[in-house]
Amino acid sequence: MPRRPLHPATLAAQALGWTDPATGAVVLPLYTATTFERDPDNQYRRGRGYARADNPGYDQPQALLTALEGGAASLLFASGMAAASAVFASLPVGAHVVAPRVMYWALRRWLNAATAKGALAAEFVDAAAPDELRAAVRPGQTSLVWIETPANPLWTITDIAAAAEIAHAAGALLAVDSTAATPVLTRPLALGADLVMHSATKYLNGHSDVIAGSLTASRTDEFWDRLVMARSGGGAILGSLESYLLLRGMRTLHLRVERACRSAQRIAEAMAAHPEVLSVLYPGLPSHPGHGVAARQMQGGFGGMLSIRVKGGEAAAIATAARVELWKRATSLGGVESLVEHRASVEGPGSPVPPDLLRLSVGIEDPDDLIADLDAALDGAADP
Ligand SMILES: Cc1ncc(COP(=O)(O)O)c(C=O)c1O
Repeated sequence: MPRRPLHPATLAAQALGWTDPATGAVVLPLYTATTFERDPDNQYRRGRGYARADNPGYDQPQALLTALEGGAASLLFASGMAAASAVFASLPVGAHVVAPRVMYWALRRWLNAATAKGALAAEFVDAAAPDELRAAVRPGQTSLVWIETPANPLWTITDIAAAAEIAHAAGALLAVDSTAATPVLTRPLALGADLVMHSATKYLNGHSDVIAGSLTASRTDEFWDRLVMARSGGGAILGSLESYLLLRGMRTLHLRVERACRSAQRIAEAMAAHPEVLSVLYPGLPSHPGHGVAARQMQGGFGGMLSIRVKGGEAAAIATAARVELWKRATSLGGVESLVEHRASVEGPGSPVPPDLLRLSVGIEDPDDLIADLDAALDGAADP
């Protein structure tokens, strides 16, 4: 009798159960070779010629990512930005793309720069409002709809199934930046998306020591071939050590994400009751405008990311961040250590981020320690 299908947490913990056929090692070796031997008759029967295209160290993390996302194939990249920009670079020159106003700021800046020089025609909308998305797509002309959910740093939720229906009705692809959701909480391909992108720097690796990115596709078609070419031709490849470390990080993905979600929910509830907090942006709170959609499309939690708006404006927010002792004042997210960041200082003019906002990336520390540290920092705001 066939055994039941394995849970994704099992697949991740065992890195698909692969062992080294030569030695039986339960962890595969780190492949540092840049080049591979030809057969005497001038063929490459073992399938690899040069590591810019054919790094054997990618096989296992890509296969695991494909299994976790329920896709057809995955590609690792040198960074999340390299993965995202490979998608846009693979569209026709001047392609019309629709993207959210609230999204990872450096990609929004990159899309604006690409639009300014005519490489793309990016149009920004409130992707949380399906009617705005529907009004922005141009049937037969829009090549791609890009969404991010939950979206940095307001944690805006976009309905992936609705976005897929809108994109496909216009003949466009739907790509989802699922960095904050992780495949533990959301599987965008099952909801109709064509491509999933991760900044693997964040939860997938999870230890703030690797910069990496990934794409996973629902099918391997002509567009996928272009992405494969964009990586090997563009050369934005992940290093062998980084690929090895990324797989090691992914083996604990489920434990880390489950813990971060539980703690983030508790921290969000505690912050919502704090007198120095104006509001809490977290999709796990019923007060969040995207809570209903998030409850439908996220399973097992609402993520480890939240933002708080501090009473007293920008100066009070920056002063609060200055007073934390346990949280680290640093950018990035999704690591085992908790981070706090005054986001408007990073994004600069033109950002939709309010100046009183602090972004919190919840790690895996004891949640009561994290709450006590934030409470003390906020109490200092009331009593300068
Ligand atoms: C949601 C999201 N997408 C993409 C990126 C870019 O990823 P990377 O820094 O790995 O290039 C980031 C980085 O912060 C991010 O938070």
